[in-house]
Amino acid sequence: MTCSLTPSGVGKTSVAAALALSAAQIGRRAIVITIDPARRLADAIGLRHEIGNEPVLVQQIGDGQMWATMLDVGETFDSLVSRYAKDEEQTTKILQNTFYRNVSRSISGTRDYIAAERLLALHADERFDLVIVDTPPTRSALAFVEAPERLARFLEHRLFKLLISSTLTGMKLITGALQPVVRTAGKLVGTAALDDAIAFLRAFAGIEDGFRQRARQSSILLRGPTTSFVLVASARADTLEEAAFFADGLRQNNIAIELVIANRMPPRFGDTAAEVALSHAQDPDGDLWRNLAQLHAEAEQADSQLAGFMLALPSTSCLRVAERSNDIIDLDGITDLATSLLAP
Ligand SMILES: Nc1ncnc2c1ncn2[C@@H]1O[C@H](COP(=O)(O)OP(=O)(O)OP(=O)(O)O)[C@@H](O)[C@H]1O
Ligand SMILES: [Mg+2]
Repeated sequence: MTCSLTPSGVGKTSVAAALALSAAQIGRRAIVITIDPARRLADAIGLRHEIGNEPVLVQQIGDGQMWATMLDVGETFDSLVSRYAKDEEQTTKILQNTFYRNVSRSISGTRDYIAAERLLALHADERFDLVIVDTPPTRSALAFVEAPERLARFLEHRLFKLLISSTLTGMKLITGALQPVVRTAGKLVGTAALDDAIAFLRAFAGIEDGFRQRARQSSILLRGPTTSFVLVASARADTLEEAAFFADGLRQNNIAIELVIANRMPPRFGDTAAEVALSHAQDPDGDLWRNLAQLHAEAEQADSQLAGFMLALPSTSCLRVAERSNDIIDLDGITDLATSLLAP
């Protein structure tokens, strides 16, 4: 599994799709999944409305395949409930519970956890031998990496266990020791919402063990030897700063970055061209030379900023991809990007 990460607009989605295509070109069955709610993946590969939770085959190249899918949080959550509920009745009770519907559809932390769950499912899916994850920008990407561990800890927490067991034993505890807490919570969220939450906890009883085990497995998969992290950045001071913040966050999670892809690098026209350009920069009709000299200066600056950034990641390799003249809006654009990734 490969996760492509970091700041906004640097080309994570495009690079993730190009990595999947490159993998297909060398005969692998790769799937790119976007866990960002934005629809950019579908747009980038020119499939405007056709990607959902169910993987679609985008391209077959010999034995290689490129697939794509977008995370549908609600659908994934529901399938998890059906999987761990003890019977139909429990499944229906949970799926119809208002509190569950709100939690599973609207709380952003849920997305992070469910994304990890979905990766686990894709990782086990025999149709694919490589899963490439296109993450949202930095801060959300970190939340995604940390989510399974957080959920597992929450489900193991004494308070959660107490709530589950007290709802099971006919609310005895709730009417006793927890009553003031419940009263305050009721005031805050409304009694109807609280009733829903309690009904949900009741319906949820017994399921949490399956959820906890899956969360632990996701956490292990993200940190395991079959997962690599690819950091996508562009050589601009602000995005490099955010990339450094992200690299640091990963380090705190004991995760190493395998590869940095420096995307959208200013083009270079060779040092000789730059020298000639500089020597003509003062010519009265030397606009084109001045432009070339300016481009050269930008390329130099990008190089030195990138080199500074890479100093903090001494054992990580860096791959440069030049800024293209056009936006990437279809599979041809992705194919070009894939070619630059594979170029020596
Ligand atoms: N090498 C490149 N040359 C030119 N344009 C590029 C290149 N890579 C990406 N782009 C363009 O940059 C824009 C952002 O790309 P993309 O959506 O892949 O970035 P992102 O990091 O996923 O953004 P977000 O943080 O919003 O998810 C798009 O318009 C895309 O066409
Ligand atoms: Mg994106």
